[in-house]
Amino acid sequence: MTPKIVEIEIEDLAFDGKSVGRLDGKVVFCNGGLPGELVLAEIVKSKPRYCQAKVKEIVRKSDLRIAPRCAHFDICGGCTWQDLSYEQQLHYKKDQVLQCIARIGKLESVVVHDVVGSPDQYAYRNKMEFSFNVTEEGGFTLGLHERGRWDSIFDLDHCHLTSPVCNELVAWMREFVRAHDLTVYDVARHDGYMRFLVMREGQNTGQLLVNVVTNYGEFPFSDELVKGLTERFEQVVTIVHNQNGQKSNIATGEIENVLYGPGYVEEKLGRFVFRIRANSFFQTNSRQAERLYEIGFDVLKPTGNERLLDLYCGTGSIGILASERVQSVIGVELVADAVAAARENAAANGVTNAVFYEGDVKDLLNRLANDDTKFEAVIVDPPRAGLHPKALKRMLELAPSRLLYISCNPATFARDAGELVSAGYRLDEVRPVDMFPHTMHIELVGLLYRQ
Ligand SMILES: C[S@@+](CC[C@H](N)C(=O)[O-])C[C@H]1O[C@@H](n2cnc3c(N)ncnc32)[C@H](O)[C@@H]1O
Repeated sequence: MTPKIVEIEIEDLAFDGKSVGRLDGKVVFCNGGLPGELVLAEIVKSKPRYCQAKVKEIVRKSDLRIAPRCAHFDICGGCTWQDLSYEQQLHYKKDQVLQCIARIGKLESVVVHDVVGSPDQYAYRNKMEFSFNVTEEGGFTLGLHERGRWDSIFDLDHCHLTSPVCNELVAWMREFVRAHDLTVYDVARHDGYMRFLVMREGQNTGQLLVNVVTNYGEFPFSDELVKGLTERFEQVVTIVHNQNGQKSNIATGEIENVLYGPGYVEEKLGRFVFRIRANSFFQTNSRQAERLYEIGFDVLKPTGNERLLDLYCGTGSIGILASERVQSVIGVELVADAVAAARENAAANGVTNAVFYEGDVKDLLNRLANDDTKFEAVIVDPPRAGLHPKALKRMLELAPSRLLYISCNPATFARDAGELVSAGYRLDEVRPVDMFPHTMHIELVGLLYRQ
């Protein structure tokens, strides 16, 4: 069948990074094109209420368009907005927040501030996950996912979101695997050995953790790996090997062996030092994370007398940074390793007024709601799904006077904020913070309070 090519005027950018136009009154989501552009696009999916299209040619270019820095831009799934000026990226991210607050939260008169841009627009990531995959020709690739493809990895030459040393290490590892004739995991057949190469880099310390994730089995050339990596890269302070024999294609392991060094890198936020292990959560853009937390504290305005609840606390960074501004901190986190890391981080920093509990926020809130302890301030920083309805209900029973909501998803934030406002909280303003330049992601901070 001949593909259906149509002319589309691009009007807007959608929350998932796609562009939006109209065809015969129906919304068309395109993978490419910027607002104000006229494109020729192939319709790849047609549903009753919308179509999906692939841009083939840009007939009229927008002034907003800039030349992407990355040679992989056309195929890489990472930076969908690298061809849009940074100023415009921030404009569309703010717009996304405004639309969510109005349409999903149904909240009027909330001031949405301009987005706080990232101090680094490139090389801002402290964590990178590179994947191995076999090729049809019998070779292998090591790099990043092709846009929209879970099963196709292109050979990476240079990623501008990470540091030069991480890029050099990818090339080095490719050669190591070739030289030692290691097999590579085939995501379709589920066999082969090498699966992922993960790096965690302390951006304020320069320390680098290398994590090799493989199928089951001890790493056969661990001495050579350690010698080669530490001789070539002085930044490498630790090397770990994770084994993952599960079909799910995730770069975390079921069994971890430390091959070299302490098993963690250190990162500094403010005056505090955090240990980051291969599998623990840590904000990906360290320098902007410092600003995000500072903005949070500026909005929360702790007096020093609060008992603070830090919910969804990960490895404890918010609670530990807050510990010198409040009376005491209770952190709650589901993942046992992260709780252990939070305790370790508190101890390593001499923080004695913070405790961390492992558990589900909704269960812990249930316990606290039946307790007499009052919390003057609560910080929540949930995953993209936002607050579980039971967690939200129990939060209302706990009734803190100030609830600082840090969110990585404006849609679920708006939903939850709408519920909290209907139940008597106020939300005056929202501060978006850009943690991920060149992607459509946006973080935000909002204070909900009772009068
Ligand atoms: C966006 S991260 C925030 C981490 C931390 N606040 C920080 O800034 O580094 C969300 C955290 O919530 C945890 N989490 C997810 N669901 C949870 C639940 N139901 N109860 C407790 N923690 C949960 C995740 O493991 C993750 O560490």
